Amino acid sequence: MNRPEEINILGIETSCDETAAAIVTNGYRIKSSVVASQNDLHAKYGGVVPEIASRAHVENIYPVIKEALEQAGATKDNIDAIAVANQPGLSIALIVGVTAAKMLAFSWGKPLIAINHLHAHLQSALLAEQTFEPPAVALVVSGGHTSLYDCSEIFKPKRLGSTIDDAAGEAFDKVASILQLPYPGGPEIEKLAQKGNANAIKFPRSMLGRDSLDFSFSGIKTAVLYHCRGQDMKGQNYVSQMSGKEKADIAASFQQAIVDVLVKKTQKSADKTKAKTVMLGGGVAANGEVRQAMQLMCDKSDRKLLVAEKRYCTDNAVMIASLAYHKFSRGLFADFTLEAKATG
Ligand code: KG4
Ligand code: ZN
Repeated sequence: MNRPEEINILGIETSCDETAAAIVTNGYRIKSSVVASQNDLHAKYGGVVPEIASRAHVENIYPVIKEALEQAGATKDNIDAIAVANQPGLSIALIVGVTAAKMLAFSWGKPLIAINHLHAHLQSALLAEQTFEPPAVALVVSGGHTSLYDCSEIFKPKRLGSTIDDAAGEAFDKVASILQLPYPGGPEIEKLAQKGNANAIKFPRSMLGRDSLDFSFSGIKTAVLYHCRGQDMKGQNYVSQMSGKEKADIAASFQQAIVDVLVKKTQKSADKTKAKTVMLGGGVAANGEVRQAMQLMCDKSDRKLLVAEKRYCTDNAVMIASLAYHKFSRGLFADFTLEAKATG
């Protein structure tokens, strides 16, 4: 598998509820990508339970790594470095990937590379084109995060704004739970919204002031709850009595409100930084309406949109191994004191 100019990195990702491993050559050539989702385990709780996630990572981590090696036709001799997401995320989940990466790096005698999960989501937008024209802004929009970055220097993204409460993906998941849809809610809301009218209900678009680049999504979730249960909150069972059309209208109107806020704030940050490029990453970037509205905004303002294929928007290890190549090239290695950190 190895030619001298080929650098193969094994990436490992366990920050939330996906156990993932991938092998990527020179940052962009994907040799393998394996993702073991825990959706079924968390579905009955309507969200990720950290203790369950951690235990599932422990069970899955070595089979997933083994499969990534097999799919790539690789052995340890073909691997040049081990990269792992060590922050931010659920610390008892991250620690499983970090420990596995350290063990492999130690026993195989390979360098270890620490990767910030959010920066990796940004890198996923560059998988296809590999390059971009600065200045650039990026929106990472997932279940745990909603943040805007000035990423003219891709390895030093500067945060311009973040959610002050729920992440956009979290709002999708919570509204799906109100509508009695399965977890994870984002894809379910998107599917249901296709049958609904996005203008049926005027849900609030929280902008937090004219110049703010921060987000707030807890109000819209409450607005959906009030809409479903009545202003007195007494209509506890109203959702089960709703017609399919009523539910679809709520899903479509909710989704539209989220899309409007994401696009408006991204445009504002792009105007502020005079960005020529807009990057989009994270699970919610897999949403067709988000992608389409962001493309429209970029077309109108003569900017280029870079966004990963849908399967590389949600958590995966390709983005970890891809970003790690750039750290490898710069000799930016971690040592065995590397820790898992919840923040970052
Ligand atoms: O990036 P990700 O896999 O994990 C985190 O880092 O959080 O994102 C998962 C989130 C979940 O909240 C999920 O509901 C949301 O992304 N999501 C979507 C879609 N696919 C996943 N939200 C809206 N539309 C989608 N198609
Ligand atoms: Zn993520």
